[in-house]
Amino acid sequence: MTIDYKWRDDFDNADVNALHAEGFNHKVLDDDWKRQLEEHSLGWVSARDGVRLVGFVNVAWDGAVHAFVIDTLVTADARRQGIGTQLIAVAQAESRAAGCEWLHVDFEDNVRSFYFDACGFTRTNAGLIAL
Ligand SMILES: CC(C)(COP(=O)(O)OP(=O)(O)OC[C@H]1O[C@@H](n2cnc3c(N)ncnc32)[C@H](O)[C@@H]1OP(=O)(O)O)[C@@H](O)C(=O)NCCC(=O)NCCS
Repeated sequence: MTIDYKWRDDFDNADVNALHAEGFNHKVLDDDWKRQLEEHSLGWVSARDGVRLVGFVNVAWDGAVHAFVIDTLVTADARRQGIGTQLIAVAQAESRAAGCEWLHVDFEDNVRSFYFDACGFTRTNAGLIAL
């Protein structure tokens, strides 16, 4: 499978809603990802197998030097082939190119190895409050 990775490429809301529902095990929603990301994100990375969206990650931004990885997603039948790692590699390169100095992420225990070992994030203290 040859995967094409793109930064800030056009996408359909329905494709991202489907990926999100599958990845986080909830019903398919009708969120307007295009508006949300255009207004609030530094960018996003898409991974396509031909025309099919198989991976996606949102890179949020503080408007200065901090970028934040949110919701790395790879469709179930394409996992464990390096697509998630490559999504983060592109997010890292593009965030650096945009002048960011730090790329942040937080995550649950089941993906520790993905972020620390495969993607190269270093361990740090972080905090979270559910609002
Ligand atoms: C997490 C996710 C994006 C990883 O995507 P992926 O394309 O499968 O990741 P990669 O193939 O690049 O994985 C690289 C390495 O990371 C580790 N890894 C990836 N997924 C893992 C998992 N579920 N459990 C443990 N290790 C994992 C493995 O070491 C893997 O290498 P290996 O396949 O040679 O063992 C994907 O599983 C996914 O979409 N999950 C559901 C949504 C989710 O939880 N996203 C993270 C939210 S913070």
